[in-house]
Amino acid sequence: MAQRFYPIKLKEIRKTTKDCSVLTFDISDSLKEAFSYKHGQHLTLKTNINGEEVRRSYSLCSSPLDHVWQVAVKKIDDGRFSTYVNDVLKVGDELEIMPPNGKFYKEIDKTKTKNYVAFAAGSGITPIHSIIKTHLTEEPNSRFKLFYFNQTIQSIILKEEVEGLKNKFLNRFELYHFLTKEKRDAPLFNGRMSVEKMDSISNLLLDIHSVDEYFLCGPIEMVFLIRDYIQEHGVAKEKIHFELFGTPKGAKKKKSIDVNNADMSDISIINNGVRTSFLMSQSGVSILDAALSNNADLPFACKGGVCCTCKAKLIEGEIEMEVNYALEKEEVEQGYILTCQSVPKTKNIVVDFDC
Ligand code: FES
Repeated sequence: MAQRFYPIKLKEIRKTTKDCSVLTFDISDSLKEAFSYKHGQHLTLKTNINGEEVRRSYSLCSSPLDHVWQVAVKKIDDGRFSTYVNDVLKVGDELEIMPPNGKFYKEIDKTKTKNYVAFAAGSGITPIHSIIKTHLTEEPNSRFKLFYFNQTIQSIILKEEVEGLKNKFLNRFELYHFLTKEKRDAPLFNGRMSVEKMDSISNLLLDIHSVDEYFLCGPIEMVFLIRDYIQEHGVAKEKIHFELFGTPKGAKKKKSIDVNNADMSDISIINNGVRTSFLMSQSGVSILDAALSNNADLPFACKGGVCCTCKAKLIEGEIEMEVNYALEKEEVEQGYILTCQSVPKTKNIVVDFDC
């Protein structure tokens, strides 16, 4: 289904650390259905900063059970959107917001008793908080373990909320804090994630094989290290769910193509029933960027192959995706592509955002 942005007012802004704000959105009754969400899904926000459109995806840190819509935005160095949110945005201001999206969740099953484990780093806690709260509330016999990495105690963005879950689900939730720039008494809880640390965690705190579902969220290096480690130790791929935070550095292969000599493709884009057609060279520029420069109004956020917002179906022709951190193998087989990562390979290309 094609998605569009809606103007939404800010109901509340709450500082959780000196550089992180939790935004609560005022979703009107008429939009509540369109904005209903699953634990672990994200919102794409859009605004104009100094005359330029800027958009970003943020995971909902609230649980759908709370009937509120909240995201936590941490100010990052050179982050235009996060600086704007933390320094400029006020209650009552409006942002353009796309309805919730994403597949980083498992359905709730109240009858099941499950062992869940999550690894999160920094802002990666946002979807994980929603996931833990929802599963433990709805599944009275399930258990959760969280391994949570931050630089310092002061930088933990949802500390109170996560500690609150520990108090509420005393016997079903185990929380382990790890700090990378501050010393804790036990050496295990100091420093970044590594294979050695995973060895220690699995020796002392976690029976890797007793876990039903894993949720991993944070920077690509950490997420892939844990994913590879547990897979190498026999955990089935289907039990591992991950979401990458931030666009992977150096992940996009730069192509040295002579634009002047590149072949041209006829591109047709269908979105909200409207067809936009244009010519572009097979030069390494993505279909999304070419379409945007031809005034097509298309959904996107990260432009890094991570968030899946630009997903569409390839109806005709062939493309090549530079990176794909978001689509499952089955989706690719069904013809879905990330348009921000796709370059045309054949003369005629038809891409449908409405499928
Ligand atoms: S815009 Fe995020 S994957 Fe394409």
